[in-house]
Order: sequence, then C-alpha cells, then structure tokens
Amino acid sequence: MSFIYSSKSVDIGSQKQAASLVLNLGNKLHAEAKKLDQLCQGYFSERLKQKALTTSKLHSLSLKQGPELQHLHLVLLEDKGALAIRQQLKTLAKSLTAESHKELHIFADNELVEALGGALAFANALSQAFDYSHYRYDSTLSKKAASTQLKRIVINATDAKQIKVFRQGLKQGQAIASGQNLCRELGNLPGNYCTPAILGDKAKSLAGENSKLSVKVLGLKAIERLKMGSFLSVAKASSEEPRFIIFEYKGKSTGKPTVLVGKGITFDTGGISLKPGAGMDEMKYDMCGAASVFGCIKALSDMNAKVNVVGIIAAAENMPAGNASKPGDVVTSMSGQTIEVLNTDAEGRLVLCDALTYAERFKPKAVIDIATLTGACVIALGSHASGLYANQQELADKLLEAGIESGDRAWQMPLWEEYSKQLKSNFADLANIGGREAGSVTAACFLEKFAKAYPWAHLDIAGTAWNSGAQKGASGRPVELLLTYLLKHA
Ligand code: BES
Ligand code: MN
Ligand code: ZN
Repeated sequence: MSFIYSSKSVDIGSQKQAASLVLNLGNKLHAEAKKLDQLCQGYFSERLKQKALTTSKLHSLSLKQGPELQHLHLVLLEDKGALAIRQQLKTLAKSLTAESHKELHIFADNELVEALGGALAFANALSQAFDYSHYRYDSTLSKKAASTQLKRIVINATDAKQIKVFRQGLKQGQAIASGQNLCRELGNLPGNYCTPAILGDKAKSLAGENSKLSVKVLGLKAIERLKMGSFLSVAKASSEEPRFIIFEYKGKSTGKPTVLVGKGITFDTGGISLKPGAGMDEMKYDMCGAASVFGCIKALSDMNAKVNVVGIIAAAENMPAGNASKPGDVVTSMSGQTIEVLNTDAEGRLVLCDALTYAERFKPKAVIDIATLTGACVIALGSHASGLYANQQELADKLLEAGIESGDRAWQMPLWEEYSKQLKSNFADLANIGGREAGSVTAACFLEKFAKAYPWAHLDIAGTAWNSGAQKGASGRPVELLLTYLLKHA
C-alpha cells in the first residue's frame, strides 16, 4: 500500500523511459520548468503566454525523441502557503495514480521546496500525499480494487546532500500516511470484521513490527481484576468480549510518556437506549478514536521516532440484551466514583473514564483521549474541526497549533465548572448524561472528573473521523494533528 520511493540527481532530458513531472510554484516558470520548456521547444511557455495553463492542473505533453517517447507533465501550483500547497499535492497525487506510467520522476523547483519549509518537509509532504491518495478500501469486496500502474516515484535532487535529506523526508511522509491509512482501514472495517478481540490481535501483530514497541492485551478476567466496573457495564451485554489494549512505544531511554487513550466501541447500537435505525451502520466508526491511536503508534514506530508514547484502547461492543445495563443502573468506576447510567447510549465516557484512571500508573507528561463521543459535537462544529477540551491551557495551545500546522484542525470548547452541575445525580456521584444543552461539553466535563492526576486533553472527533454520503469512509483524522503534536512535544 506504499509506493517505492527514491531520490537521485539526474537531468530532466535523460528520463526517456519514464514520465516526468515538474512542480512549479506560481505561474512564472522557474529553473526546472524552463529546462522542461526547452526540451519541448517552448511548448509550455507559449501556452502560458496565451493564458492556457491553469494552476494545480496537470499539463501534459508526450514528446517523441528518436524511437523513445517521453511523457512530460507540468503543474503550476498556486502559491498560497505551505498548507494549500500540500492540499494541491494530494489532489495531484490522486490524478497521477490514475495514469498509466509505472515510474514517475519528479522535478521540483527550489521556490516550491522552500515554500514548504525545506527539503525534508517537501519530501515528507510528497510521499505522504501519494501514499494517502493511494489507499482504497477493498477488504470486504470480492473484487479487489485495481492496483495502480504507478509503482515507483523518484524525486530529483540537486546534489548528494539533498538526496540524503529527501530520503529522510520520504521515510517520514510514508510513515505518517501508513498511520493514517491504518486508521482509515480499521475505521472502515465493518463491525463483524473488527470486534474487540480482532482489535487485540491486530495490536499484537503491530507490536511485532518493532522491538521498541510492546503491547499488552487484557481480556475479560484481567479487566475484572482491575475493577473497571464502568467499562465492564458497557461490554457485558455483548457476546463479543471486551479487550483493554496497552501499547508502549519507547523511542528514547528517559522521559515520561505521553499517553493516548482511544474510544474503541466496535459497534454502538446505543444499548437499551437503542439508537434509531437510520444510519446506524455508521456506528461501526465508533472505534475511530482507537483507530487513531493505532495509526499514531504505527507511524511513530515506522519512523523510529525518538518519543515515549503509550497508547491505551478500551474496546467493547455496545449491545442491548437481557443482561444489559438499564437506565438508572449505578456502576462503580475503577476510580471508586459511582455513576448513574441514565442513558446507555452515552457509553463512550463510561469506557474512557476507566482508561483515564488506568493511565495514572504511567505518571504521564500528558494524556490525550480521542473519541467519537457526541452527536452534539457534530452539531456544534460540523466536520471541519475536532472539538478540543483541556484541563491545562498550555496543552490546549500546543494541540491547537499542531492542528493549524497540519491542517487537521481542532477548536477549543469550554470546560467551565457551570456545565458540570448538569451531571448531578441523586443516586450516584455523577450521572452519565447532562441533558440536552451543550452535550459535547458535559461529556467532556464527565471525563475531566477522571483526569485529575495529569495534564489532560480530550478530542471529540465525532464530526471529523469519517465522511458520510457517497464518499462514505474514514478520514484518518486526527492522526496528523496528533503526530504533529507528538513529534514536537512528546
Ligand atoms: N458514538 C455516539 C456519538 C456519535 C453519534 C458520534 C453520532 C457520531 C455520530 C455516542 O456514543 C453517543 O451515542 N452519544 C450520545 C450521547 C447522549 C445519549 C447524551 C449522543 O450523542 O446522542
Ligand atoms: Mn452511544
Ligand atoms: Zn458511541
């Protein structure tokens, strides 16, 4: 699911067998584009003069040079900042993977490389764009998606020094895309192909890829021994047993870990507070928080990042049954706090609260939980931003910044004491719902009560983790946001 990348230093005229692509920033031809233009006797500059070249579209020409045919492409990328350029690269990668060449040689002008922040960032953005665009879901189709003709991508470098940096960047971009694609794949898998036990098995095989990565997968008995009464109350009505998964990635010898906690409801029916039927299939995506933890761990491991990160996943299926939790039931969480389950469909917070308590044992630098937690967050922010909550502003600021930098944005929401009052219960320490008003906020307030021991942030990704409609599919968010944060601060 990844292209084969390399970097070397060659002349554009010498690539007779393969297709060449020149990336030019803005609509004035820079050095590489000029060389290309000379090769085809001013074909591109002539068209540019006639204003026949639009930005961010492929402009192609096949040139007969003796017996050989050379395929030449020129793209004029709009100069609207690094983020917009990366977006254009993604669109471009998508159309290029649909072409019939096996090998593509990319020549980028210096202006473009600089606009993206240098050689490392450029190569990173390029391989990420191509590998991300390459992903197709076909795991449960009888006919597999046709694989692209394009196999090899070569980035041309100015010298040996740049080749080295390019190679490093290519590796990073590939790692990020492989994390995003793993996140998408796990999200897209139907509930019957992605049970808690299957997630546990996938965690074990991921941990086998790198000696710096270890994993523990706890089953029902072990979870009971931990007294995770809240988590277990969600899991108990399903014939699929829960799993509690703990990844430990040790990329450096010292330093407290940053802990990621993912909601892993492999299917959310709502339980006895059953959801309406329409669109319920999309509740297979209710483990996208967990999937993003998988994605981050995979990316960090693939790039051998020098960070210490723990990934915790609470995986269960939320089902109605004769032994299911009922509205009004009181459960005791691992923290000792009791919870009145007024609505069994507010199950995400019930599994996360015990995972947050478990996280304390790592004496974490920070804990970030990621969850498709509330429909109310989709109403508040739509699909453009994940909802961000934090009990420490410094942590919130760093995550907001990582979102802006990656384009995988979050928007901070309030965690005010006033909202917490909505969680009052006469029969337990707190209720698991806070009424109609500010549903995403009261869910976060609930979690906050279990995250007192460390700097904590919560990302509500209910609106961002997948797309609905004809393009239904997992987005891979917020893997890029999290990786941008982790690579800088973990
Ligand atoms: N997984 C859902 C949240 C959800 C709903 C995400 C729709 C994306 C789209 C969560 O478990 C849930 O059901 N939340 C309830 C909470 C309510 C009962 C307080 C909700 O949002 O309706
Ligand atoms: Mn629910
Ligand atoms: Zn849910």
